Amino acid sequence: MSQARTGGDEKGKLLVLAFVGLLLMAIAAFVALLTLEGGPVGNAFVPSGTTPENLPEPESAGAQVLVRHCRGCHNLPSPTLHTAETWPQVVERMKLQMRSQFMARHPIPSPTDEQVLLDYLRRHAKRP
Ligand code: HEC
Repeated sequence: MSQARTGGDEKGKLLVLAFVGLLLMAIAAFVALLTLEGGPVGNAFVPSGTTPENLPEPESAGAQVLVRHCRGCHNLPSPTLHTAETWPQVVERMKLQMRSQFMARHPIPSPTDEQVLLDYLRRHAKRP
């Protein structure tokens, strides 16, 4: 009898342990989501991400602005993803993304940096 009761207690303890474990995992997942820089979401949307070394004119000011501001949320976009004509619209939309994901604190490029970036993107854009 007491044997059986002990068995029941063990089961209860295991259940509590499992519950606490699940709770901890849920909290960990939640914290991870909060601190994540929007990575997984955005990455799906930049098909051919590049690396800083593979950018055209990697040492130029424009390339540096791109690396600094444009890979917090997804792969580093190559300038050849868009034409000179469409880049300004994309950058405008990215500024909205940066504002909307304020929790992750993505700095919006200063007007000067934005100009440098647009000049750079247009110079190396996909030819129409
Ligand atoms: C705050 C996060 C964030 C930052 C920072 C960011 N992006 Fe994005 N980007 C996104 C999201 C989300 C998407 C997918 C939804 C969309 O296209 O608007 C995306 C998609 C893209 C795409 C693919 C869609 C398309 O229209 O071709 C390009 C290219 C791109 N971003 C370029 C940039 C550039 C250039 C910068 C730097 C000025 C930048 N991103 C910075 C969040 C961001």
